[in-house]
Amino acid sequence: MPNDGPPPRDWRRRAAWLREQLERHGHLYHVLDRPEIGDAEYDRLFRELVDLEAAHPELSTPDSPTQRVGGVPSEAFRKVRHRIRMLSLGNAFSGEEMRDFHRRVTREVGEEVEYVTELKIDGLAMSLTYEDGVLTTAATRGDGTTGEDVTPNVRTIRSVPLRLRSVEGTPAVLEARGEVYLPKQAFAELNARLEEEGKPLYANARNTAAGSVRQLDPKLTAERRLGTFVYAMDPPGALKTHFEVMRRLAELGFRVNPNYRVHQGIEGVLEYIEEWREKRHELDYGTDGVVVKVNRLAQQAELGFVSHAPRWAIAFKYPEEQAVTLLEQIQVNVGRTGVVTPFAVLTPVLVAGSTVARATLHNEDDIARKDIREGDTVVVQKAGDVIPEVVRPVLEKRSPEARPWVPPTHCPRCGTLLVREEGQVARRCLNPDCPARLFEFLAHFVSRGAMNIEGLGWRTIAQMLERGMIASAADIYHLTKDDLLQLEGFAERSAEKLLATIEGSKTTTLRHLLYALGINHVGGTGATLLARELGTIEAVEAADVERLGAIDGIGPIVAQAIWDFFQNPRSRALVADLLASGVRPAPPEAPAQGRLAGKSLVITGTLSRPRSEVEAEIRALGGEAGSSVTKKTDWVVVGDSPGSKVEKAKKLGIEILDEAGLRQLLAEP
Ligand code: IVH
Repeated sequence: MPNDGPPPRDWRRRAAWLREQLERHGHLYHVLDRPEIGDAEYDRLFRELVDLEAAHPELSTPDSPTQRVGGVPSEAFRKVRHRIRMLSLGNAFSGEEMRDFHRRVTREVGEEVEYVTELKIDGLAMSLTYEDGVLTTAATRGDGTTGEDVTPNVRTIRSVPLRLRSVEGTPAVLEARGEVYLPKQAFAELNARLEEEGKPLYANARNTAAGSVRQLDPKLTAERRLGTFVYAMDPPGALKTHFEVMRRLAELGFRVNPNYRVHQGIEGVLEYIEEWREKRHELDYGTDGVVVKVNRLAQQAELGFVSHAPRWAIAFKYPEEQAVTLLEQIQVNVGRTGVVTPFAVLTPVLVAGSTVARATLHNEDDIARKDIREGDTVVVQKAGDVIPEVVRPVLEKRSPEARPWVPPTHCPRCGTLLVREEGQVARRCLNPDCPARLFEFLAHFVSRGAMNIEGLGWRTIAQMLERGMIASAADIYHLTKDDLLQLEGFAERSAEKLLATIEGSKTTTLRHLLYALGINHVGGTGATLLARELGTIEAVEAADVERLGAIDGIGPIVAQAIWDFFQNPRSRALVADLLASGVRPAPPEAPAQGRLAGKSLVITGTLSRPRSEVEAEIRALGGEAGSSVTKKTDWVVVGDSPGSKVEKAKKLGIEILDEAGLRQLLAEP
C-alpha cells in the first residue's frame, strides 16, 4: 500500500460518496427523467469510481454503479424458485365483464371498494429481490413457480436500482415485481439497423425485450436500452393500500409508471379504460390493456386467489389491435431476388389507429396451415406495431364456394415457371429479365442509401418501364428532357431538376454503388466494409472468395454471394455500362472537415455511456467509428470486458486508448 496517499478509510469514504452521487444522478436521469448534471460530469465521477475500485478491489460492492456494465457471459441461466408464485391475471374484454368483476368483488367484501387502475405494460414480468437493500437476484417469471436467474443482465438496465434508497422500516428481504420492456423507438431503430444489414427483423417489441433479457452475454442486454416499470412489492409492511405501495416503490428508487389512479367504485375505472383506449398509442412503450386492482390490502387478502390468478385484480384487454374485414383477393409480390410473397388485398379497415388495406400472408405454407381463402372474412392485426398480418379466417362466415388458395405455378409478371428450392418456404422467379424483379431492383437502385436519385419515385419508374424508356439501371443515365416530358407529372422545370439530380448521382462513393447493385446479403454495412477494404470497383470484381472472406465482418456466405454476383456476366455488363455512362465511384470518403477527419476508431468492451452516443460524437468530429480492427484503424478504445479486438490492435501496433484517453481525444481543442 503506498504510504503517501490518503489512509484507506478515506478511499472507502470517497468511494461511498461517489457511489451515492452516481446513484442519485442515475436515478434523476433514468427514473425521474430530470437530470441535474451533464453527461461529462457524470462520466468524470464514474471514471473516478472505476479507477478507485480497480486500485482497491476490496472496495468493490455488488451494488456499485460500476457493476451495471455486465459481467462474464454465462453458459445457461440458473433456475430460481420464486418465494411467492408469480401469478397471472384474469382477463376482461368488455365493460360488462368489468361490471361482473366489480359485482363479484363487492359481494365478497361486503362493502364499498376502491380500485387502482394502471396501464398494462406489454413486456415481460420480472422479480427483483433485494437483501439488506442490495439487488441480489433478478428472475424471469418462467412457469410462475420457477424462473431463470438473469441478474447480470438486469443489472445493466439503468432504471433498476442496484441499491434501494433507504426508507425507514424497509424489510431485510424485499421483492419487487414489474415489467421489463423495449421502448417502441428503440425497437424501430433496432429493426432499421437489422434491415440495413440485411438481417431478419424482430416481430415485435415484446419478444425482443424477452430475448434481450435472456442474452447469455450481459453486454448485449446493456446495448438494448430496456426500460422498467415496477408495480408490486412484498412484504408491504405497514402499508395499507396498493396506492401507498406504488408511492413507496417510487421512494425506494424504482421506476413507477405515473399513470396510475384511484377510483371509488367501477364507473371511474370504466372512464379510465376509455381515456386510454386511443391515447396509449402515443406512449413510447407498448400497452395492451389496463390492470385494475382492489386498493385496500386487507380487502385483497380477504379476496385471495383462484388457481393461477388473484381475485382482487383483473386485466382489461383492449381488443382493437385486431379488426375483422373481408379478404378480397390473395395476390403475390415478386421481389428483387425473385422471391414470391403472397399478400392479402382487404376491404380497408381501421386497426390500432391507421387504415389497413393490405396485409402480409407470410408464405404459402402459412396460408395452408391457417386455411385462409379468398372471399373469407378474416381477422387482421398489427404485428409489433408495424406490418399488418392476417391472423385467421372467421370460419362461421365462410361461403360454401370458397376454395383453398392455389399458389401460382408461374410468375404473375413474366410467366416463367416458379421454382421452390428444397428447404425453402418461398417460390422464386429465376428469370433475370422479369419486369417485376427489374422494377424492384430499380426502386432499390435509386433509393437514398443507394444512388440517391431523389425525385425518381416508383411511379415514375413504372411509367418509364411501361414506355420502354429504360430497360436497365444504366439507361437512367441516358434519359433526355424529351423523355421526361412525355411522363405524367413532368414539366420543363421538374424535368430539368430530375436530370440534374441524375447527373449529380454519378459522383458517388464506392460504398453507395456497391449497395445499389443489390448483391444478395450485402446491405449498407457490408458495402462499407467492401469499399473500405478493397477501395475500387475493379478490385471488388477481381477479388476471389478467399480474399472476400478474409475481410473482417464478411462471412463465408456473404463472400460467396459477392463472388457469385460478379461471376455473372450480366452483373459485369451492368457495372461496365454504369461506368461507361459516367458513374464515378469515389474510394471511401475521408470527411475533409472535423478534427478527426480521416481518422478511424473502434470501440471494444463496455463504456460508461452508450456506445452509439460515443460513436455519434466521433462522427460529428469527422471521424469514423468502425466495428472491426484493420490496419487502417487509428485507435482502439478499450472499455470494460473488451473482446479479442484488443489483441488484434496490439498485433497491428494500433494505439490503444482507455475511456479517459478517449475523453481527452474528444475534448481536445
Ligand atoms: S399486476 C398477481 N400490473 O400482465 C399478478 N401486471 O397478464 C400481478 N403486467 O404477469 C400482476 N402490467 O407480467 C400487474 N401494471 C401491471 C402490469 C402487469 C403488465 C403483466 C404481468 C402479469 C401479466 C398478467
